[in-house]
Amino acid sequence: MQSDADESVAFDPNELDHDEQYKLMVGSVVPRPIALVSTLGPDGPNAAPFSFFNTFGIDPPIIAFSASSRDGVLKDTIRNIRAMGEFVVHIVDDPLKEKMNICAIEYAGEVNEIIEAGLRTAPSLKVRPPRLIDCPVQMECKLLQIVPLGRRPYDMVIGEVVQFHYRKGLVNGRYHVNAGLLNPLGRLAGYDGYTRITDRFPMERLPVPPGKKPA
Ligand SMILES: Cc1cc2nc3c(=O)[nH]c(=O)nc-3n(C[C@H](O)[C@H](O)[C@H](O)COP(=O)(O)O)c2cc1C
Repeated sequence: MQSDADESVAFDPNELDHDEQYKLMVGSVVPRPIALVSTLGPDGPNAAPFSFFNTFGIDPPIIAFSASSRDGVLKDTIRNIRAMGEFVVHIVDDPLKEKMNICAIEYAGEVNEIIEAGLRTAPSLKVRPPRLIDCPVQMECKLLQIVPLGRRPYDMVIGEVVQFHYRKGLVNGRYHVNAGLLNPLGRLAGYDGYTRITDRFPMERLPVPPGKKPA
């Protein structure tokens, strides 16, 4: 039941098709971080960006991202991770945006997007796929689980970070990452919507008020 004060517009996702649901989701959950994921497949290294991405646990550090399939055909990233169980997640910064965008081109499997984009690689320490050393943060990951989601389906890849690499100067001695130096790119709605962190402000966490029960 809607109250008189509620002027919201309501949608039942069961009555919407895939593209309508997609537009609501990617327009609402914003800005999203972008994972540039490198993998190794039968044709060599591969890289692609994914913005259905975040961190989900610590100790060990856990990340996840999700990829759709193309008319039932797996994207190279998912095919490679299924076969090898290893990948590297990179954070994309503003200067890397055009190179990231080249990695999103729907090339045939044998095309190496890393070369097309002009990204430089180095061997990883604990996994076989190479790292993209131009990226400010490189997280070597081992696969924990692939969870198929929904009708398309989307494949949610859950991985454990087994090795971190940071651009020099980005992390201080207390493991704080400098967000200004990181300068990450964020994803908004649509095929061309992006954002940067250009406005930051502090807001302190509040203690439990007197008279209220703490957790
Ligand atoms: C900024 C950005 C974010 C993207 N996020 C996703 C995503 O979360 N899931 C997805 O399936 N595709 C996403 N894509 C599209 C893939 O990057 C694209 O399909 C890519 O070609 C897949 O490459 P692959 O076949 O080498 O894995 C995104 C593209 C861009 C440019």
